[in-house]
Amino acid sequence: MRVRRVACPGSFDPVTNGHVDIIRRAATLHDEVIVVVGANRAKHGMFTVDERVAMLEEVTAGLPNVSVETFRGLLVDYCRDRGVSAIVKGLRAVSDFEYEMEMAQMNYRLAGIETLFMTANPLYSFLRSSLIREIAAYGGDVSSLVPPPVEARLRARLAELAQG
Ligand code: PNS
Repeated sequence: MRVRRVACPGSFDPVTNGHVDIIRRAATLHDEVIVVVGANRAKHGMFTVDERVAMLEEVTAGLPNVSVETFRGLLVDYCRDRGVSAIVKGLRAVSDFEYEMEMAQMNYRLAGIETLFMTANPLYSFLRSSLIREIAAYGGDVSSLVPPPVEARLRARLAELAQG
């Protein structure tokens, strides 16, 4: 039997409840889901790639067909190497559409890899990692927007930064 293995790629700096919702729903539809953290530009983020992976592993621990990996270079090369048949992405709003469509069409053109879009849960359609970082940095409450382990790590990172 052919295994339907899909990839959920992203920066995940950090993973939000919106990401987890998409990952969970993708896991009900496909045999295997690999959450892949893009490491090309990760140096400039709030969390290292290893920290992002650790958070993702923690929050997806209850999903047996979900694993977490990293990739460098082109996403389509990673997909070919790992036997990934499609990329799954969440679409939050019309503002996501142009960028996501461009990437989906380019990835298809480069390697014939399909992209499947799932509409975001309206509860999370305004959620984006950069907003989480900003709200947390200014003392806002992000407890309903990210999983508890992520909130804890955000607090810890901000405390480290405040100490210089
Ligand atoms: O969370 P993001 O920022 O939307 O994730 C973007 C990511 C990592 C999925 C995207 O930047 C990516 O695929 N980068 C790898 C480089 C690549 O394949 N570029 C060509 C895309 S057409």
